[in-house]
This record gives sequence, structure tokens and C-alpha cells, in this order.
Amino acid sequence: MSSSAIASLPGFRDLTPRECAVRNYVFAAWRGAAARAGFVEWEGPTLESTDLYRKKSGDEIIGQLFHFTDKGEREVALRPELTPTLARIVAARHRDFKKPLKWFQIGPCFRYEAPQKGRLREFYQWNADILGEASPAADAELIALGIEALRSLGFTSDDFAVRLSDRALWDRFLKTAGIEADRTTVFLQLIDKWEKDPPAVMDVKLQALGTSREAVAAFMVSAREEPGPLGPVIDDLTARGLGGFVRIDPGIVRGLAYYTGTVFEFFSLRAGARAIAGGGRYDHLVSTLSDGAVSMPAAGFGMGDVVLGNLLEETPGPCARLHEALAAAAALDVWVVVADEERRADALRLLQDLRGRGLRADLVLAAAKVGRQFQAAEAAGARTAVVVGAEWPVLKVKHLAQREEVTTDRDGVWATLAQWMEIGQPVG
Ligand code: HAM
Repeated sequence: MSSSAIASLPGFRDLTPRECAVRNYVFAAWRGAAARAGFVEWEGPTLESTDLYRKKSGDEIIGQLFHFTDKGEREVALRPELTPTLARIVAARHRDFKKPLKWFQIGPCFRYEAPQKGRLREFYQWNADILGEASPAADAELIALGIEALRSLGFTSDDFAVRLSDRALWDRFLKTAGIEADRTTVFLQLIDKWEKDPPAVMDVKLQALGTSREAVAAFMVSAREEPGPLGPVIDDLTARGLGGFVRIDPGIVRGLAYYTGTVFEFFSLRAGARAIAGGGRYDHLVSTLSDGAVSMPAAGFGMGDVVLGNLLEETPGPCARLHEALAAAAALDVWVVVADEERRADALRLLQDLRGRGLRADLVLAAAKVGRQFQAAEAAGARTAVVVGAEWPVLKVKHLAQREEVTTDRDGVWATLAQWMEIGQPVG
């Protein structure tokens, strides 16, 4: 690369066809799981008014905004997440839809974070949310959806777990410890860093709030043993046969400011991995963003493609499944070999006919030796080849893996391919 070449920005990705294929494979798993659970797709704008995030996302995300003033002097930001957009849309349009809403979305998000393993500045997120249902059954339905998506990619309970908590647990603790309600956010931010901050530093910060590391640790142990407000969610997931994926962990408090009850994160069981997904209940956000005009209970989660993509490549079972799917998605059905340039026009006609019938068909675009054309067929993963040569209208159809060969005419080509590929004749 010359020194004047312009590289991509830090934290932004160039996706080559293979990387796009992996992304599409993940999207298909997300979309499939959502559809199987009755969720419908929605989308919002990539650029929003900066105020939308200032209102409720919390300091951490505000500090990570890609924001600027547009030519109309508006303060705008690339979306770091979808939840505020969703709450805004639902506040404005909820009368048009039957409750509860089960909505999902897949698209890019932008956060100015330090790029590192599992964290980029542009990433894709899958959001699934249920609005208009206050029951813990909605929380369980969402967690079950996330589990199903990961299972459909080949992950098992050996690979990941869902850590579940409820902000109400900490409200109880704060009350008992006599800590004022206005210190809640500061306190929860400390708990969020529980595993990251050195114990001594943590203790000093907690003492400043009127408690101690010891008291918090003791509370965490007792909360793990007593499901409390999380009982119904755990019972629901257990009834679905998914209890083995879930564990209570009061250390999960979530960085975002709008959560009001259940909070959860999907974690890889591999050491050092970041969260695959996170979410929870945010019963007041619709009301906050509509200045109290609409109140609607809500819960949801976001799953990113970066940590998940790393895990897919690193976990043997899901990785084998990925490679199989990529090979199947990339493979061509038939390669048209032009053995005699005099017959290129006939070969092109045949090619278009095969594509028109729904087969994935290709050829070498410029004149080339027959051997090179077969090499190209192999490289493209073509299952069969049709050789168009001097014998026209007699053609050879070859099954490349089974090394079978049939000599036939134009009509016979389709019949042979249909038989080998176990596809039906087109109607009419
Ligand atoms: P979040 O925990 O900020 O939640 O993000 C959810 C997931 O998005 C994370 O677990 C991670 O997989 C992915 N993610 C976040 N930031 C990055 C990054 N910089 N690079 C790569 N992946 C990232 C939310 O965004 C909530 N709005 C989720 C939600 C939906 N809550 C309710 N509904």
C-alpha cells in the first residue's frame, strides 16, 4: 500500500464477499428465530436528533455518540442503539397496532468506543422487543428468543449462558443500606464495574456511598440463592426446557439508564469474552419520550454481530455448521463450458435459459482453454457442467463430483440436471 492510500477508519469494517456471507448467515439465523416466534420486522433511521439519546440512554452512550451539526443547524447523531427510536415510533403510532407488539430489527449502530476484540465503532445489532405487555412472560419470551437464535447457529449450554438480574433487587439493598434514591445510578455504575475494578478501589468508592464491598458481596451471594422478583421468569424458561441456560447474577445491572426491572446479558462461557447480547425491561421510556402522553410497558434486547461472529469462528460445532452453510450458499448448480468458440452464442442462450429456470449458472466470460474452464467450475464449487462444443446440438452434461457423464440434446440438459439436483420440472 502506498503511504497516500486512504485506509478505512478505526473500528469500521470492509466486508469482503466471505465476510458478507458470514454476516448474512448470522442475519438469517436472527431473522429465522424472530419469525418462528411471531416477531415482525421494523426499521428506523440511521441518523437521529441528538436529543433523543440525551433524554434517556445514559452518560456512557452519550460519551460514545458520533454527532455533528447538519447543514440545517440541527444537532444530529448516528444511532448508537435502536431502543430510543423504537420508543419514539411506538409512542407516536401505537394506536395503529394490536398489543402486544413483538417487533424485531436488524441494522448498523455506531459507537465511538476504543476498537478492541468484540468492540467496533460500526456494528450490526439485532433488536427484539415486546411492547404493551408488563408480565414477566414477555421477559421470558425474549430470553427464549435469544437462546433459540444461538441454538439455531449450533451453540449449546456448554457455550453460553444468560445472566439474569432485576434492578428491584438493588433497590431493596439500597433501602436496607440507607442509601438515598438519587445515588442509585452512581451505585449501579459501580456494580457494573464489579468484576473490572480492583477490590480496594471498589471498596473506597462504595464506602463513599455509605456501604462497603463486603456488604455488597454478601448481598450478591444471598440474591443468587433466592430468585425473588425473577421467580416467574425462571419458571417460564424452565417450563420451556431452557432453565439450564439461565442463572441469577445480581452483578448484571446494564450500563443503559432506562431499564426499570429485569435485566439480562448473554455471555459466552469462554474466558474473557464480551457480552453477546443484553437487554431488559424499560417500562418508562415510552412515557419519557412522549412527555407522559403515552405510557407503555416494554422489554427487549440487542444482540451484536461482532462477539457472535468471533464465537462462531472459535467454537468447533457452530464453526463447522457455518462452513457447511457458506459452501452451500456459494456453490453454483451448473457451469457452462464453451468447448468451441463458434458455439459461444448457443452457450450464452443456454446459460440464460438455465438462470431463467432458477439455477445458479455461470461461465468463463472470455475465450479460454477447456481445462481452464473446468478449473474455474471447480473453484466456484459448481456441481455440474454442460459442455457446448462442435458436436452441437449434441451436448455433454457432467456431474462433477460423481464423475458421471450424459450425452444429450438441449431439452435433455434440463431433465438430467433436474434429476441430479432432485428438483421438479417447472410447470408449463
Ligand atoms: P447494549 O448492551 O448496549 O444494549 O448492546 C447490546 C449488544 O450490542 C451488546 O451485547 C453487544 O453484543 C453489541 N454491542 C454494543 N456495543 C458494541 C460495539 N461497540 N461493538 C460491537 N458490538 C457492540 C443496547 O443497545 C440496548 N438498546 C438493547 C435493548 C433493546 N434493550 C432493550 N431493547
